[in-house]
Amino acid sequence: MTTRVALVTGGTGGIGTAICRYLATQGHKVATNYRDEGKARAWQDAQKKAGFDFALAKGDVADAATAEAMVREVERQLGPVDILINNAGITRDTTFHKMSATQWQDVISTNLGSCFNVTRPVIDGMRERKWGRIVQISSINGQKGQYGQANYAAAKAGMHGFTISLAQENAKFGITVNTVSPGYVGTDMVMAVPEDVRNKIVAQIPVGRLGDPDEIAFAVGFFVDDRARWITGANLAINGGQYMGW
Ligand code: CAA
Ligand code: NAP
Repeated sequence: MTTRVALVTGGTGGIGTAICRYLATQGHKVATNYRDEGKARAWQDAQKKAGFDFALAKGDVADAATAEAMVREVERQLGPVDILINNAGITRDTTFHKMSATQWQDVISTNLGSCFNVTRPVIDGMRERKWGRIVQISSINGQKGQYGQANYAAAKAGMHGFTISLAQENAKFGITVNTVSPGYVGTDMVMAVPEDVRNKIVAQIPVGRLGDPDEIAFAVGFFVDDRARWITGANLAINGGQYMGW
């Protein structure tokens, strides 16, 4: 296994932490971004105690200038980025007729704008080196839509449109671009859904429970593996059977 440099955005969150850890166990050097330094350093220390050494770079993925600075800082600390996991994301759930322009724009900028902001500074280097792995963390709700998530579903569906275009443009450069679409996973994001609503959602999952972040990280690791070199433009749904469209 070749050691590569991986940047996982939103690595301090529930799914992001699992992805960082999984990639580290695969022998990669892993970095993530932060906005709040104190929170990030506490996270870094906790990971260190668990045996993981992750690099940190300041950057807001919704902002092109700071996202580029973040990529350059990761390169300075670890070297050129070979693996990019566009994972950072937020929700601002509300029915569309109540949605403010800010609730729309924040979700589009963070969840979809980030794909441009973070991928643009790494793509030239991947093309020059003729190797790269880019994975978008989309969502079941980008595939099927969700009551109260017009902003989120639009951004998450857009992420896969981004994937399949980038996959075509970069296939000849040894770069694969894929999407992982998780269903409901037990992180802070899902725990913020009102309990009664959440219980109704869990009742719709054939496997009968929320997903575990490690179950998402495993799929990301699959796409990143050297042997996955002929898999590009794919969307892998991991949702306990809640949505089986194809
Ligand atoms: N289908 C049909 N009707 C629904 C519904 C649904 N899925 N959800 C809510 N409703 C109905 C309610 O029954 C209620 O009906 P009545 O008025 O007839 O009583 C009505 O909608 C409430 O509408 P409001 O506009 O008043 O909505 P609200 O302010 O009460 O909040 C909501 C609605 C924000 C959508 C809330 O139901 C909610 O948080 N839903 C969960 C949304 C969700 O799944 N978010 C996922 C977050 S995690 C994540 O995003 C990760 C991931 O990728 C999976
Ligand atoms: P989470 O625990 O809330 O973590 C979100 C992470 O994103 C945090 O590290 C957060 O950092 C970071 N982030 C948010 N906005 C950012 C910004 N503007 N710039 C930089 N970093 C930012 O969420 P999660 O459940 O792990 O979700 C991770 C990804 O999976 C998201 O894209 C989400 O949409 C997607 N997803 C989640 C589920 C699920 O069920 N949990 C299902 C499908 C898809 P801060 O600490 O600075 O806020």
